Amino acid sequence: MSAASRVLYPAFRQKIMPAEAAAALIRHGNNVGMSGFTGAGYPKAVPPALARHIERSNQDGGTFRIGVWTGASTAPELDGALAKVGGIELRLPYQSDPTCRARINAGQMDYIDIHLSHVAQFVWFGFLGKLDVAVVEVAGITEDGRLIPSSSVGNNKTWLDQADKVILEVNSWQPAAFEGMHDVYYGTERPPHRKPIPMVHPGDRIGEPYLRVDPAKVVAVVETVLPDRDTTFAAPDDNSRRIAEHILEFLGHEVGKGRLPPELLPLQSGVGNIANAVLSGLNQGPFDSLTGYTEVLQDGMLEMLKSGKLVMASATALSLSQAGMREFLGNLDFYRQRIVLRPQEISNHPEVIRRLGIIAMNGMIEADIYGNVNSTHIMGTRIMNGIGGSGDFARNAYLSIFMTPSTAKDGAISCIVPMASHVDHTEHDVQILVTEQGLADLRGLAPRQRSREIIERCAHPDYRAALHDYVARAEQAARAGHGGLHTPHILDEALSWHGRFERQGRMGN
Ligand code: COA
Repeated sequence: MSAASRVLYPAFRQKIMPAEAAAALIRHGNNVGMSGFTGAGYPKAVPPALARHIERSNQDGGTFRIGVWTGASTAPELDGALAKVGGIELRLPYQSDPTCRARINAGQMDYIDIHLSHVAQFVWFGFLGKLDVAVVEVAGITEDGRLIPSSSVGNNKTWLDQADKVILEVNSWQPAAFEGMHDVYYGTERPPHRKPIPMVHPGDRIGEPYLRVDPAKVVAVVETVLPDRDTTFAAPDDNSRRIAEHILEFLGHEVGKGRLPPELLPLQSGVGNIANAVLSGLNQGPFDSLTGYTEVLQDGMLEMLKSGKLVMASATALSLSQAGMREFLGNLDFYRQRIVLRPQEISNHPEVIRRLGIIAMNGMIEADIYGNVNSTHIMGTRIMNGIGGSGDFARNAYLSIFMTPSTAKDGAISCIVPMASHVDHTEHDVQILVTEQGLADLRGLAPRQRSREIIERCAHPDYRAALHDYVARAEQAARAGHGGLHTPHILDEALSWHGRFERQGRMGN
């Protein structure tokens, strides 16, 4: 199909140009809001063209760099290409690109890790400075100039609204049948004029299916036919399967106690292989008529929709493997009726999450014996990805669950530690911890009770004795007058726990 057929608004047809010409409209020092969320719906032609432009400009010692704001992670053509040429001054919010990660940790690029629900409103409030340019991928432009969103909505509404200049990538690879699947809510006001968000069920449609843009701001339209990143998943391994089993057993227990209805509550599932394994487990499990209210819809939820276990899912991005995309495209009418894609300020909105009563399930790097969770920093200093939406969900969920294998790097590192080397989710936001060893239910437990529960149920047997010994000595020290018994710690030792194993040569890279 000709890509030109997707640009139906006459005024925009005159703005069609090659990616190189559009990229040349972006200037050094600009803050650029790009579409894209977990490898879905990101611009695919302008960022690599911009990277080439930056590389040429900087060949003779130039300093062309921009600020890159997105929905969440993108793909090698965007984050990777721009980071490789040193073209990113500052990146926000979530990213997972290896080149970005290396440059951030080497101090060559700044990174601000923000809750995903905060980004749009921080921009409206003016907290992050001026947004100069928006580069947004869409699936088409209607005859009257409305934009059909593509495989993610992310922060696009805000970028289009706030930027001085708009560059649109119209991607004919994206299914034309996306038209009508999205729900873009334009009712959010700034305080003190805010009104309740009128959503009481995950499937409610409260907005409109199109994105609005002021035609006067559109400086370029670039046509593409390029696929989203292929988000593949490993088959669940033993650890992920065991984590999934513990969660399923726990949910069944909660239904038995009358604390959850038989169809559970809307599910939020983080990204990655463990999250996908949990969804596979739920797909084979005893619960029916489930719903999803999540950030990213991945293959696992698609399979649950197909099997009928899940009756509908709300998300901000559709991030599928190639096989998942084939399944989606082959049965579009079926999935269109069951999936709603929204801006991330709504998919991750604390008010909605609290009202709907979400079961939030997210991955972590490590948890400490009192239930503080580190989702972002290896050894407390090196960023992995970012907090993403995990904080939006964890603090406001009906049940907040964090999961990880009990060890990392082939057993060389315990993911249960005396004191988390970085805290993203405090003990107040963490109710359930799960590893392949077991599940610790921390609800209603005081700190010292939590420490016993976490060590016994979640720590790997190789590390249990060392952790118990730590707790015993911390309590002893407190009784001897060194610190308090509410949350006993031997601070020097807690803080050097990671270093201790590193010194013993047990750490991988
Ligand atoms: N110490 C050192 N390294 C550790 C570690 C620890 N305690 N725990 C994990 N790692 C390393 C792993 O070895 C792996 O390294 P590698 O890439 O070199 O192989 C890497 O961290 C990722 O770990 P993995 O076990 O593959 O986990 P994952 O893919 O399930 O990701 C998070 C885990 C925490 C990184 C991921 O869930 C994340 O980014 N979370 C934050 C954002 C979020 O929750 N988003 C969803 C919200 S909607």
